[in-house]
Amino acid sequence: MSKKIAVMTGGGDAPGLNAVIYALTKTCIAKYGYELIGYKFGYRGMYLNDYIPLTMQSTSGILHRGGTILYSSNKDNLFDYWVEENGERFKKDVSDVAVENLRREGVDVLCVLGGDGTLASAYDFAKKGINVVGVPKTIDNDLGSTDTTFGFDTAVNIVTENLGRLHTTAESHHRVMIVEVMGRSAGWIALHSGIAGSADVILIPEIPFTLAGIIKKIEERQKHGKTFTVIVVCEGASLKGGDKVVSKIVEDSPDPVRFGGIGEMLAALLEHNISQEVRSVALGHIQRGGETSAADRVLSCRYGVAAAKLIHEGNYNNMVCLRNGKMDYVSLESIAGKTKPVNPEGEMVEVARSLGISFGE
Ligand code: F6P
Repeated sequence: MSKKIAVMTGGGDAPGLNAVIYALTKTCIAKYGYELIGYKFGYRGMYLNDYIPLTMQSTSGILHRGGTILYSSNKDNLFDYWVEENGERFKKDVSDVAVENLRREGVDVLCVLGGDGTLASAYDFAKKGINVVGVPKTIDNDLGSTDTTFGFDTAVNIVTENLGRLHTTAESHHRVMIVEVMGRSAGWIALHSGIAGSADVILIPEIPFTLAGIIKKIEERQKHGKTFTVIVVCEGASLKGGDKVVSKIVEDSPDPVRFGGIGEMLAALLEHNISQEVRSVALGHIQRGGETSAADRVLSCRYGVAAAKLIHEGNYNNMVCLRNGKMDYVSLESIAGKTKPVNPEGEMVEVARSLGISFGE
């Protein structure tokens, strides 16, 4: 029996989205003979019924490309959506408009590629009777129901490469170099890139740090003749007893708080307390841009093929996931609110500590 599948990408983009779209489209068309459309800008496209056909042609050559050919938005929660009526602007539940569009287009299954917020909305559509299949995405790797999300490996590679560059300039000037990375309230990007890129100090939200702890490490290095120090700090990290540094409030986003600025703040604090010069650099959206790493391409293709399989089997209202190296799935109902912070007592932190890396405690 033929099926029509609508695909959408929501939330912040992540390298690998296009590879999932590619693998899903190829498998659904060539193996199962299904038809696909792709809604543009996530849920907004579903509301406006703005879509493109996903065909062998329209998805040709996108596997390696970062970004998403369907575009994305992290502002459009259709259950709480800004509308303007009679000159007034207010929030309203417009999800029924999207449901009606799906029905009118003859869509059998909605395939949602997104992070926690986007997948929570996907579950809300499932409760309205839409057949949903989810695919986990985020560079932050903070989704609790899967071992790894695609986009994470690419971000770690980008940060690691930049840590290498910053090492050489830090060494030339005998400076302390602070590198602020993304991750929201999860320190995975900082932890993995810090290990791979030989950082001296890794600061993550899960382990609050002190200025004294960082200075201790800098002085320890100086005693051993090391004239520079490289610190990688997650945007959501904070001083013990202090607050996270907020850079922006995106009013119409379901998750409006954007972290950022801890690197600059720390640089100013450190410069008052040590004799070395301190510089800080925030890598920002560079971590999400450009080509997708080989590991993320492979993982995304696996997710795309696994999602096509769930669709074929009629195994709806689940999210594909990676569990102990194997493709698996979990119910959308069970993933709500399940985040995956770094375990301060876990293996990765132990590995870093064993290498002599400080967490600034
Ligand atoms: O969740 C992915 C992420 O890149 C976070 O690491 C970061 O805090 C946030 O998105 C940035 O969001 P925006 O693209 O809205 O600036």
